Amino acid sequence: MQSRPANREPFFHSVHIVWDEVGDPDTFPYSIPAIKKMGRMNLHPAVTFIIGENGSGKSTLLEAMAVRLNFDESGGDANANFEVRPLDGGLHDAIRIQSSLYRRPGDRFFLRAETVFNYASHIDREAIEDRKFIQRYGYKSLHARSHGEMFLAIVQNRMKAESFFIMDEPEAALSPTRQIATLKEIDWLVRTGCQFVIATHSPILMAYPDSIIYELSGDGIRQVEYEETEHYTLTRSFLEHPKAFLKRLLE
Ligand SMILES: Nc1ncnc2c1ncn2[C@@H]1O[C@H](COP(=O)(O)OP(=O)(O)OP(=O)(O)O)[C@@H](O)[C@H]1O
Ligand SMILES: [Mg+2]
Repeated sequence: MQSRPANREPFFHSVHIVWDEVGDPDTFPYSIPAIKKMGRMNLHPAVTFIIGENGSGKSTLLEAMAVRLNFDESGGDANANFEVRPLDGGLHDAIRIQSSLYRRPGDRFFLRAETVFNYASHIDREAIEDRKFIQRYGYKSLHARSHGEMFLAIVQNRMKAESFFIMDEPEAALSPTRQIATLKEIDWLVRTGCQFVIATHSPILMAYPDSIIYELSGDGIRQVEYEETEHYTLTRSFLEHPKAFLKRLLE
């Protein structure tokens, strides 16, 4: 199932590491097993999901991509400077992102659940100078909302057609209902020409059909089908028989 034209060119085609530019491949971040074995990763024209255990390297990869594309490492857009500068010699120096010759994103945004508070402060500061900033968010400071409400307000109001988005664990702030609302927003944005790269642990989000899923593990980075992810199989077996599952677990 897909809601975009089948032949739509992605803004960004692929990501790879130029190993000749890596100083010591045995130090962080190249020591992370998935990064060490990383080949070329082709990006999906709609949504690329990055999954894997805690500590498998998802945020490291996303941050490097964001810095390489001149996003602020801590989240936000290219104009939101949160005074966090990446160190020289990081993964961002050695990765390359192959861009389309024909399509460029009109806008780009890096959204991380843990830094939406910083972004809300940035919007409030900008609003002092220019009311249009807060107008986008319904004339109400983002700080006057809960974490999840703030996050969804940014997704609904800040994100525009024909744009490129990187999201790190968007589900962290969201109830299951709001995760489903986020899926609808993502689908709307895909229809209007957007491309996403999303790191997630959410079996709800990663069910989005017009996507590719890459799993980071000790074996490297491999494409997996939704139904073979541990997120799907484990959640499913738990929810089908929670009592039996817990009985086995806690025996
Ligand atoms: N500055 C650092 N120096 C050394 N090791 C680091 C540094 N930052 C992260 N790591 C290690 O790199 C590994 C990958 O971390 P990363 O944050 O990318 O994982 P992740 O897949 O995003 O995990 P999670 O699902 O918990 O968010 C972890 O083992 C972490 O401890
Ligand atoms: Mg992470």
